[in-house]
Amino acid sequence: MDKKVTVVGAGNVGATAAQRLAEKELCDVVLIDIIEGVPQGKALDLAEAAPIEKHDARLVGSNGYEASEGSDIVIITAGIPRKPGMSRDDLISTNAGIVKNVTEAVARFSPDAVLIIVSNPLDAMCHVAFETSGFPKNRVMGMAGVLDSARFRAFIAMELNVSVENTHAFVLGGHGDTMVPLPRYSTVAGIPITELLPRDRIDALVERTANGGAEIVSLLKTGSAYYAPASAAVEMAESILKDKKKILPCAAYLEGEYDIHGLFIGVPVKLGARGIEEVIQIRLTDAEQAALNKSADAVRELVDVLKRL
Ligand code: APR
Repeated sequence: MDKKVTVVGAGNVGATAAQRLAEKELCDVVLIDIIEGVPQGKALDLAEAAPIEKHDARLVGSNGYEASEGSDIVIITAGIPRKPGMSRDDLISTNAGIVKNVTEAVARFSPDAVLIIVSNPLDAMCHVAFETSGFPKNRVMGMAGVLDSARFRAFIAMELNVSVENTHAFVLGGHGDTMVPLPRYSTVAGIPITELLPRDRIDALVERTANGGAEIVSLLKTGSAYYAPASAAVEMAESILKDKKKILPCAAYLEGEYDIHGLFIGVPVKLGARGIEEVIQIRLTDAEQAALNKSADAVRELVDVLKRL
């Protein structure tokens, strides 16, 4: 393949992302993990599935970063996932150290890469990667909104018994309890869900979306969601690799957009070959802006925690 993507963290999210990247034949994949043998074993296993899955993506696993040299994109999933009763924010001190180390290595070997951060707490980990890499803001972003809106879309489709393909959903804000799903921009075949569902049902779906990660954690008990998070990261990577210019909600570094300054938070962006090519600004109601501000305050608190680590 003429494109190369490195996935750091060969755990649940990372290995699933590697599988999807390869099976969609988007790129060659380098899988990196700190545990000896795991990235090598998973990459080899995936390579042995290739004749059946019918793709020619090359997969390599490694504990070092040499093989990642010159990657177009690096997806960072390294870190610990949460357990029942934990919030994403409880992961901050452990994952900040991991994301810092990983970013240093990644930036050395792939100075022109786009970084897609998946490790939680997402928005704060984007700050770590942004500051550590020194990359321009268009090449550092976080995966959260695509996942949160996919969850919202899945719940809308279940509620109305329609194809998920007919659904579209918009979710703004940080990846946490303060995320801001926007029902009036969420549609089924172009029809806003506010025309299709009563207020109390929409509120219930919004609530379930905001708690979507915790719902999975409480079922799995030993880790957090990974199929949908991997799909979301791969959708972002695909838009960049193919220069599709899809508009997707991602954590982006804002400098005044939505009246937010110097903070990573989820907003709609255009994703193309240069990474974030534009932050799309939509007009919010006062209530929506207030909810976004509250979400930004929650992210800012975590960024302050980072400074004290
Ligand atoms: N370098 C490389 N890999 C590392 C490092 C490191 N410094 N530290 C940890 N890892 C690896 C672990 O060895 C493990 O294989 O990261 C992997 C994480 O995988 P899982 O434990 O399966 O976690 P996963 O479910 O994939 O979640 C990873 O993404 O969604 C977020 O909250 C989630 O922060 C978590 C991350």
